[in-house]
Amino acid sequence: MTDLGADLFNRVAADYDRSVPFFATFGRRLVDWISPNPGTHVLDLGAGRGAVTAALLAADCSVLAGDASPAMLDFLRETLLTTDTRTLNTRTLNTRILDAHHLDLPDSSFDLILSGFLLHILDTDKAFTEIARVLKPGGVLAFSVPGHSTDGGWWATYGRIVDDFTRRIRDVPHHEPVTWPERADRAGLRHVDQTTTEVSFPIDGPEAHWSWLMSHGNRWLHDALPEPDRTAFRDHVLRSLREHHPTNGTTLIAGAEFHRVIKP
Ligand SMILES: C[S@@+](CC[C@H](N)C(=O)[O-])C[C@H]1O[C@@H](n2cnc3c(N)ncnc32)[C@H](O)[C@@H]1O
Repeated sequence: MTDLGADLFNRVAADYDRSVPFFATFGRRLVDWISPNPGTHVLDLGAGRGAVTAALLAADCSVLAGDASPAMLDFLRETLLTTDTRTLNTRTLNTRILDAHHLDLPDSSFDLILSGFLLHILDTDKAFTEIARVLKPGGVLAFSVPGHSTDGGWWATYGRIVDDFTRRIRDVPHHEPVTWPERADRAGLRHVDQTTTEVSFPIDGPEAHWSWLMSHGNRWLHDALPEPDRTAFRDHVLRSLREHHPTNGTTLIAGAEFHRVIKP
């Protein structure tokens, strides 16, 4: 999944979560769900522009915001380390460029690791092994991944379009479905809890919907395709929004799963 690494997120960083507070909303809900004790020192893995970090700071936690993309972390600092709050926040917020597959962090150093919309794009076995190493015994990992929503099957249609266009540049690998509890188990972690949640935002029609899709990880295929496939991909997605979306592309509807895992 190298297409979804730092290079892609450096390119989308300026537009990421600007048009609709999509990731910010899920970040707040993830932190609400975990309800960390004030003062907890938390690693936000794949922190991006700070969706989860902002909610953790609001809950009086101190945060190490780690991400592979320098551009995403630049925006996080710009937003969360404002002039007024810099003195306060530098006591509670630190940032670090890091790769979740090889964490440059000591063993058993965190009670809590949060990760918003990252683990599904990684080599999960490597990332879970590293997370298991860095968590203290009894420590908790909570993470979000995309989930089902009441979208009338539009995301499934979008997924089929993505697969069709991906086949123009490479094979679409078939993965046997592995559940999150199984993945956690393989790294010596124990899956203890999960929930689902959904958001719905008004959006200015199919073109705005497309721009939103291109402002985060979904952009990888657009950038990987040669012309004229790139234009055809856009046309197919716009047509699917006009014809197969429950509100003809005028609502952004998406779901997430939240998972909680502990290090025994
Ligand atoms: C979909 S964004 C989620 C950002 C943020 N957690 C949020 O909820 O908005 C995924 C983030 O993971 C980062 N990322 C991608 N691969 C990574 C890796 N191997 N290690 C650390 N961060 C990575 C990207 O740069 C990006 O900021």
